[in-house]
Amino acid sequence: MDFKGNVRPADMERISTAEGAQAFINEAVDAVRKQVGDGKVLLALSGGVDSSVVAALLIKAIGKNLVCVHVNHGLLRKGEPEQVVKVFRDEMDANLIYVDAVDRFLDKLAGVAEPEQKRKIIGAEFIRVFEEEARKLDGIGFLAQGTIYPDILESDGVKAHHNVGGLPEDLKFELVELLKFLFKDEVRVVGKALGLPDSMVYRQPFPGPGLGVRCLGAITRDRLECVRESDAILREEFAKNGLEGKVWQYFTVVPDFRSTGIRDGKRCFEYPVIIRAVNTKDAMTATVENVPFELLQHITNRILNEVKGVNRVCYDMSPKPCSTIEWE
Ligand code: XMP
Repeated sequence: MDFKGNVRPADMERISTAEGAQAFINEAVDAVRKQVGDGKVLLALSGGVDSSVVAALLIKAIGKNLVCVHVNHGLLRKGEPEQVVKVFRDEMDANLIYVDAVDRFLDKLAGVAEPEQKRKIIGAEFIRVFEEEARKLDGIGFLAQGTIYPDILESDGVKAHHNVGGLPEDLKFELVELLKFLFKDEVRVVGKALGLPDSMVYRQPFPGPGLGVRCLGAITRDRLECVRESDAILREEFAKNGLEGKVWQYFTVVPDFRSTGIRDGKRCFEYPVIIRAVNTKDAMTATVENVPFELLQHITNRILNEVKGVNRVCYDMSPKPCSTIEWE
């Protein structure tokens, strides 16, 4: 297969089977070895489906000549940074640089309440951290990106991948884009064939700014922990009850106000948690999942008992439109 240009080859068959995935993997491995030779390739590895599949392909093709950088910006879901290290460094023996940038991001975001401003800060800081890591490395000639075909179609082939677009001129590397003709379902089939865990391959969509847009208003560490812990409980219960992989996207949101409750016979003034669970085909419209009432009660009880600083749980019943899927 030819990885040049921005148009999916007309004769490219849809990848839907393990055999089809294996054929693609073989071609991609040959193509990248031809492109980079003994050169070194840099990759921003978020742990999302696309960057994880790119990493696994490149590890297969060039081993330690791939340098992965995982930036923990403090806005990832519970267990995600640990999973990236476990899967790629421990199990696949990848050359992985783990950057703990939690304080840096949260300090920059302190006091910023406007959603688009929060997004801008997260995006810009990400590029800055990645750039700093890239400058520390010698001999990098290539930059791998998890661009997939919808990214190309949606951006007219000109927009760089949102994670790494915006690197300064002197850090412009030759691009390696192995997934650029693949649709999301094909990326997942390839990821599965490469041996990535199901929790990585079939994960629900997660916004680039992460939990930052679910901790409403100015992010504080205590509310961010409420979002992370309640989200972990929701995901665990959906998995246990057969809703993982069935519901398109589900998460929790914590607003920046408190309400009155009673704990141990005393009044308490704590945060609410809002549960959102929606189904959609293209994220342009969405319907609310009909979660069994008993399960909602069980999740509510767990959140109230296990998440510090939360005394109320609500279920968001609003379809898109007129609500958006995310709250910010
Ligand atoms: P909305 O809230 O617009 O979300 O109905 C539609 C889909 O897009 C995701 N989303 C984002 N993804 N960066 C992203 O990468 C963002 O800033 C962002 N905002 C929303 C959202 O999770 C849903 O899947």
